[in-house]
Amino acid sequence: MRVHVVDHPLVAHKLTVLRKRETPSMIFRQLTEELVMLLGYEATRDVAVEPVTIETPVTTTTGTRLARPRPLVVPILRAGLGMLEGMVKMAPSAEVGFLGMARNEETLDIVTYAERLPADLTGRHVFLLDPMLATGGTLVEAIRFLYERGAARVTCLCLLAAPEGIARLEESLGDMEVDLYLAALDERLNERSYIVPGLGDAGDRLYGLAE
Ligand code: URA
Repeated sequence: MRVHVVDHPLVAHKLTVLRKRETPSMIFRQLTEELVMLLGYEATRDVAVEPVTIETPVTTTTGTRLARPRPLVVPILRAGLGMLEGMVKMAPSAEVGFLGMARNEETLDIVTYAERLPADLTGRHVFLLDPMLATGGTLVEAIRFLYERGAARVTCLCLLAAPEGIARLEESLGDMEVDLYLAALDERLNERSYIVPGLGDAGDRLYGLAE
C-alpha cells in the first residue's frame, strides 16, 4: 500500500479548524468538501486520460478527457457522504456508486447493508471515500468487495488515519494494490477506537448529532 499524506499549508490550516470541538456542522461540512478537493487533486494526478479532438473558436485541436470507463467515486455510508461533493467537483465526469457498511455489534463482522454499484467493475479506477481510517475493518472489507467485483485499481481518500488502521490494511490486503491519501496521520486509537487527537465522530459532526 502506498500512503500519501498531503503536506500543504492549506490542508493543515483547514484540518486544524475541522478538528476544533466548537466548529459547527455547517463549517465542518464546508471544510470537509474543501479538504476533499485538495486531497482529490493529488489523488487524481495519474488518473487515466485519453485524447479528444475539439474545436476552439480559432481552430481544431487535441485536448484531454478522463478515459473510459469513467472513474467511479464510492462514498462509504454514512460519513463518506460528506466527502462526495468535494470529489465530484474535482472530477465531474466520474460516476458515483454507494456502499453502506457497518459492524455487527454481536459478531463484530463488517456487514454490507446497502450497495449501489455497477455489477461489473472490470477496468474501473475506484475512488473510495471514508473520512476516518480507525481500526481499518470497514475499509479492508470495502476494498475487498471492489476488487472482487473486478476493479482495476482502488484509491482511498481519508481525512485522518491511525497507525493501527494502516497496519491492519497492510496486513490484510495481500497483493491488492491500494493508494491511500490522507490530510494527516494521527498518533493512535484510544480505548473506544477513536482516532487521537482526531476530530471526534465524523458522521455526527457532519450531520449535526454532536450539537
Ligand atoms: N470514526 C470516527 O468518526 N471517528 C473516529 O475517531 C474513529 C472512527
